[in-house]
Amino acid sequence: MLRVLVCVSGGGTNLQAIIDAEKAGNLGDTKIVRVISNNPGAYALERAKAAGIEGVCVSSKEYEKREEFHKALLAAINEAKPDLIVLAGFLVVIPKEVISTYRNRIINIHPSLIPSFCGTGYYGLKVHEAALERGVKITGATVHFVDEGTDTGPIILQKAVEVKEGDTPKELQLRVMQEAEWVILPAAIKLIADGKVTLG
Ligand code: GAR
Repeated sequence: MLRVLVCVSGGGTNLQAIIDAEKAGNLGDTKIVRVISNNPGAYALERAKAAGIEGVCVSSKEYEKREEFHKALLAAINEAKPDLIVLAGFLVVIPKEVISTYRNRIINIHPSLIPSFCGTGYYGLKVHEAALERGVKITGATVHFVDEGTDTGPIILQKAVEVKEGDTPKELQLRVMQEAEWVILPAAIKLIADGKVTLG
């Protein structure tokens, strides 16, 4: 069984997609063992609770030093003994010690077709604002393994989404979520659970 830990910061619609896929039996031999949020007010924690999944908050605001926060985050991850860590809208730069401990076992969902509109500063709505600003006609989402860089790890799945005339950033964000993110994130977890994607 693949023990999955999900890290979140906000609304948790991607977390919900994973929960729903697990309930529907679409994640293979997988169990979501814990949800970690860096934000105590994240609605994602409510979603975890409603699904009967343990939710834990590790907020940087509770620690004077960044290293202490990183230590607490690693401890909360280790406690869950995960086989796979899923970053589902987790807006924290992943500490190096987490990446080295869980090398090739961390995946992230990004709301664009990497290498477009990714890297430092591109997260959430900002990604869609940049895509509209540039005038692209196709955007999408990417699931990739996490390495030391920002959005630089090996790509697992991508899905394209059409940009429509007159889209607002929020309209585009919702279409990318519905048509791409909520589809490819559970699909990537299933590929890993089935042993069809591995690294290293
Ligand atoms: C999602 O669109 C996800 O792709 C994005 O944050 C949103 C979280 O929404 N992640 C990034 O931008 C990471 N660089 P959710 O909390 O409703 O799943």
